[in-house]
Amino acid sequence: MTSKSPLISIEEVSKVYGFGDATTVALEEVSLTINKGEFIAIMGPSGSGKTTLMNIIGLLDRPTHGNYKLNDKNVARIGKIKQAKLRRDNIGFIFQSFNLLPRLTVLENVALPLAYKGVMQTRRLKAASNALAEVGLKDREYYLPSQLSGGQLQRAAIARALVNGPSIIIADEPTGNLDSVSARVVMELLSDIHKLGNTVLMVTHNPSLTRYADRIIYMLDGSIVYDEATAVGEIPKRVQNAVNSLRSSDEEEKLANVSALMETMPGPDKEKPKAKKKKSKKRGKKK
Ligand SMILES: Nc1ncnc2c1ncn2[C@@H]1O[C@H](COP(=O)(O)OP(=O)(O)OP(=O)(O)O)[C@@H](O)[C@H]1O
Ligand SMILES: [Mg+2]
Repeated sequence: MTSKSPLISIEEVSKVYGFGDATTVALEEVSLTINKGEFIAIMGPSGSGKTTLMNIIGLLDRPTHGNYKLNDKNVARIGKIKQAKLRRDNIGFIFQSFNLLPRLTVLENVALPLAYKGVMQTRRLKAASNALAEVGLKDREYYLPSQLSGGQLQRAAIARALVNGPSIIIADEPTGNLDSVSARVVMELLSDIHKLGNTVLMVTHNPSLTRYADRIIYMLDGSIVYDEATAVGEIPKRVQNAVNSLRSSDEEEKLANVSALMETMPGPDKEKPKAKKKKSKKRGKKK
């Protein structure tokens, strides 16, 4: 990586939902730096804060505490309109449930983000048509979403995410509703997008999909418990094992598994030999 400032820099970000007694800490002082061009797979059990983190990075939501710099600009506390504009120009979203509008044709759906941007209709439809061609759906332009298969819907959603030319793609379980063949097509598309120099953040429950990523982040209970670079094409065995064991276990086992995972992992920077984890009272307890 170059020594340029990072694309995304998150510092001690927390997100708390609710008020009074009914609060949930969805993110707890998460810090994270992402460079341009990374493909990051985010994993972790249900409720661990993956979507919350993606929504904050994607400017769909705001942190309760902490800082967020996007392209060196403080964006944690900007107003709704600025937030929406930055989002529109920089970020493309792909969701598990496709989120296409049922009454619009595929072409109109894909063109929609450009309408919000004030692009004229002819140019809008042309751009949407090009985006659809890129995902192999040229012949489905005038279909309604209900007439497409799941894999085709997700490809249309990818075309919609790309139509604005964003440099950051956030995909929250993009293959969650797809069969393995369609999932592969979607992953190959994401991989192509990555190879063009874009930054891809993908939440997934499927360890085998981490092979497309060059970095893997694992979340648990609102924290990042592991963050490691990996070669594209490789699924670290530890990830596979840990995820498999996490699948069917109860809470206590989960924690045990993750701490076992952490013990075998060299942290984000691999040279940390003498960080023998000691559970001693470091500074004494407060109070
Ligand atoms: N709008 C909300 N209001 C209240 N609590 C919320 C809200 N959104 C998320 N939470 C809570 O925050 C925590 C993190 O949720 P989040 O959706 O980020 O988890 P996740 O890791 O994406 O889970 P999954 O794998 O099931 O999608 C959960 O405990 C969830 O119940
Ligand atoms: Mg989620």
